[in-house]
Amino acid sequence: MPLSKEVGRNPREVAAEIVDKLRIDDICETPQIAGPGFINLTLKTDFISTSLSSLLGDDRCGVDPVKSEKSIVIDFSSPNVAKPMHVGHIRSTVIGDALSRILRFHGHSVITDNHLGDWGTQFGMILWGWKHCLDTSAYELNPTQELGRLYRLVRKVVDADPQEIANDSIAAGLVEKYPDARQEVLSETVKLHEGDPENTRLWKQFMPVCREEIERIYRRLDITFDHTMGESFYQPLLAEVVKDLIDGGMARESRGAVGVFLDGYETPLLVQKADGAFLYATTDLATLAWRAEHWKPDRILYIVDHRQSQHFEQVFATARSWGCRVGQQFSNIDLIHVAFGTVLGEDGKPFKTRAGDTVGLESLLDEGVQRAALIVGEGEQARQGMDDARRRQVAEAVGIGAIKYADLSQNRTTDYVFSFDKMLELKGNTAAYMQYAVARVEGIVTRGGVNRELLRREVHDNPSVLELSDPLERRLALTLLRFKAVLEDVELDYRPNVMTSWLYDLASCFSSFYDALSVLKADGHKRTTRLVLSDLTGRTLRQGMELLGIRVPNQM
Ligand code: ARG
Repeated sequence: MPLSKEVGRNPREVAAEIVDKLRIDDICETPQIAGPGFINLTLKTDFISTSLSSLLGDDRCGVDPVKSEKSIVIDFSSPNVAKPMHVGHIRSTVIGDALSRILRFHGHSVITDNHLGDWGTQFGMILWGWKHCLDTSAYELNPTQELGRLYRLVRKVVDADPQEIANDSIAAGLVEKYPDARQEVLSETVKLHEGDPENTRLWKQFMPVCREEIERIYRRLDITFDHTMGESFYQPLLAEVVKDLIDGGMARESRGAVGVFLDGYETPLLVQKADGAFLYATTDLATLAWRAEHWKPDRILYIVDHRQSQHFEQVFATARSWGCRVGQQFSNIDLIHVAFGTVLGEDGKPFKTRAGDTVGLESLLDEGVQRAALIVGEGEQARQGMDDARRRQVAEAVGIGAIKYADLSQNRTTDYVFSFDKMLELKGNTAAYMQYAVARVEGIVTRGGVNRELLRREVHDNPSVLELSDPLERRLALTLLRFKAVLEDVELDYRPNVMTSWLYDLASCFSSFYDALSVLKADGHKRTTRLVLSDLTGRTLRQGMELLGIRVPNQM
């Protein structure tokens, strides 16, 4: 219709001419022209059933690897260690992991790197705490917990918030005894950065403890990294970076500090403070150069909070001109900040505990699993028995899956409200709904004593048995065939929620199909068709959930 305006002709005439030139009879029935100038295309049942039957023999559910494979570095999770992980870390961790799995499955060569904040001012707090208020026996019993306690305690002392202090007599005592604590904490960090032997030794002692703390959470979340190269790794390279930026005329001194002044920004990108210390941006530039040299990626994705947008814009702009000047490989790397919004509580404010603390990630996972345990076993086959150990495993998959899925199903750029009640609903766009759909398929297969291999072979050799005479069967089949297109859409803008929306469509189509049509009680080709659709739905949902990093138990 827009074309008809352009060429100044009647839209139906234009439609007729287009239809006349179309060569699609292997795929579609004869196209119909309708209304003012619509062209309606109806896929041939043959085409759908042949496409479906080729899915049957395909482990990849119809997704061929991309033709132009890219090498992609994904920088995600990247928590500042030595502080307990909290709810704020969930988004980068879960979105980054899902994108890694999806891009890898789609055929790209992916390198994941957890860019740990292992060199920041938080170590000053722990070092000071270690020297002034360590509980040695507590440390021997549980080092992680004691370091966590020191961090929280010293932070209170440094912040010196009267209300917080009033509720904590130990903190209050320290504030009184060490009026200069704040300054001393800062100088512990400076000493560490200057290579002070004792602080370096302690840092080396703390690191494995901090690592164990986060590893425990990653294990539970089922998340791994190819590399975990913290900020500390790049420290020896920073002086050179600053020198190079100055020599290249990109950075200059301003009131003792060194900054890169970019057009369009009010503030420069600081790379060195007046006291000589290097900054977050300096490390990011050094990291970029290192990755360019060692991994030669086509693209780097930074999965980081939207509040760091300006930081990344400035780092990327600096990198581009720096790269051009010194001819580093990285002038051609596609640098992308995959930003995301904040997790809110049900009151619409950043998610906090009742006492006003940020919510620890571990206790959040525990609560998800506890609540999931209440719904596990309500399903139709649960009565067939699940022992306690199995039930716990399923609850873990359902609880953690719910938290991951709730995050991934949001448009990543907006904030979202964290709600256990919503994310554990059995109906709706939730992990439990998908997991439940798969369990239903498994139930059908088990009850019907179906041999999946035989079924697949039978239909693969003779696709015409798939009659697809009911519109519900047809709709389900068409949804199944969209997997490849969905992955392409996710990749356009790195949005896992495109994938969750499709999974939700698929599970909903299956649900309408299964509620309206009998599968096991149908006869002949109808039974075969419906079993095939169920089998494919189960497999495809499982594959899709796996790409989101979510486990799917056979029973629920
Ligand atoms: N550690 C940083 C933080 O907690 C995030 C690091 C993101 N990655 C990066 N290359 N800057 O804010």
